[in-house]
Amino acid sequence: RPAMVVAIDGPAAAGKGTLARGLARQLGFAYLDSGSLYRAVGAKVLAEGGDPADDETAARVAEALQPADLERPDLRSEAVGRAASLVAAKPRVRAALLAFQRHFAASPPDGKAGAVLDGRDIGTVVCPDAPAKLFVDASVEIRARRRMEELRQTGADAIYAAVLADLKERDERDRNRAVAPLKPADDAELLDTTDLGIEEALETALRIVRRKT
Ligand code: C5P
Repeated sequence: RPAMVVAIDGPAAAGKGTLARGLARQLGFAYLDSGSLYRAVGAKVLAEGGDPADDETAARVAEALQPADLERPDLRSEAVGRAASLVAAKPRVRAALLAFQRHFAASPPDGKAGAVLDGRDIGTVVCPDAPAKLFVDASVEIRARRRMEELRQTGADAIYAAVLADLKERDERDRNRAVAPLKPADDAELLDTTDLGIEEALETALRIVRRKT
């Protein structure tokens, strides 16, 4: 029986990760945070003193990525998020990470019956045949507040104006790149979490997914 796939896309800090993890727990599915792949590439490039905007460096690192690279402690920082969005605009980087994501969706680890993947292009490029697709969005101001909370919980100092400017820049780059731009798949359900708490958003998402499966 083919694995059941739930695709969750949307801009940074819209609540994708929280929703995807919650859905995976409720459905007993495996979860893949595809952003962590791009973050791992960005983090490795920065760690070796390279320029994430350089095609050759980014492609070389992506093509040599190892599972242990996904365990780096610095993946959630803003600097790494920026580097991730720079390397993610490169076709060779995206191509290098595609097979791993598709394999995860088709054969979820631990014999799970399905997988939840979140990112920017899961419903459009990675898993275009996924029966359940959500596009999660929220106002950029609320997303900046949420990202700030997240950063502060890790002990980082976060300034609202800086986080807001950074989110806008990253979204703009993700939406306007030539390859796999951030956009809802034609058959995605839109879920706006601006005025929803975590529980409410999860209930709504579960309802949508159950209707599709
Ligand atoms: O979701 P997260 O903020 O961790 O992703 C970091 C960056 O990785 C995003 O800004 C985006 O540029 C890139 N990304 C992507 N495609 C995905 C997931 C993430 O381009 N499927």
